[in-house]
Amino acid sequence: MRRQIIIGNWKMNGSLLSIKSLCESLTKLAHESDVADIAVCVPSIYLPYVQTNLKNICLGVQNVSQYNNGAYTGEISTTMLQDFNCRYVIVGHSERRAFFGETDEDIANKTKQVVQAGLTAIVCVGETLEERTTGNLQSILARQLQVVLNKLSTKELEKLIIAYEPVWAIGTGLAATAHQVQDVHRYLRKIVTNFDEELAKNIKIIYGGSLKPSNASELLSLEDVDGGLIGGASLNGKDFGQIIKQAKKI
Ligand code: 13P
Repeated sequence: MRRQIIIGNWKMNGSLLSIKSLCESLTKLAHESDVADIAVCVPSIYLPYVQTNLKNICLGVQNVSQYNNGAYTGEISTTMLQDFNCRYVIVGHSERRAFFGETDEDIANKTKQVVQAGLTAIVCVGETLEERTTGNLQSILARQLQVVLNKLSTKELEKLIIAYEPVWAIGTGLAATAHQVQDVHRYLRKIVTNFDEELAKNIKIIYGGSLKPSNASELLSLEDVDGGLIGGASLNGKDFGQIIKQAKKI
């Protein structure tokens, strides 16, 4: 059985002051849950602060360079992340694809860089509303996932979490329905099965997009859902705590 993981994506939110109080409430709730693994992906600049001030919750960031240390102005390397005990890196979030022009190839390169450093890559895939309504859902998801599967060895893929994040559900308050989520997660697992059956049994596929306390129980209980990637609701300690409590027990 796959143990669930609940991951907060703080995006470009917060200040030193607000992150201080968020760390205090998260430290309390970390003691209350032994059901799921918990992680927060913070803005990189706050990584040292959060590392010192947040206990019992794993650390992650939202992006990383696809290159090793060197002349890459403005970039942050996986080696730098390791200095701060960072374990998770979100790769290929739809906001990075849409606003920063990241291509499937960039995302595959970053994923490889992350897993080769021994970190876990949370690779995001998801369709826009137009892609869904024009019948391209499966081909878009297959393309996004296949590039990563092709680039990595089976051993490297063991350090992968797949996050299904329909673009139209992100930040809109309108989550995908349980039926839509299970359908896509089953499809993604089938793609991995075609690649490697054992890997498909163990790989975590998590859902993100307006996940909140009121829908967490239904969505997290689905057969092929192994956790959640939470944006807005992860900025509120109480809401994030309530989502964690609804993770599936194994
Ligand atoms: P929301 O939970 O705010 O919809 O964001 C989801 C997301 O993009 C997490 O990566």
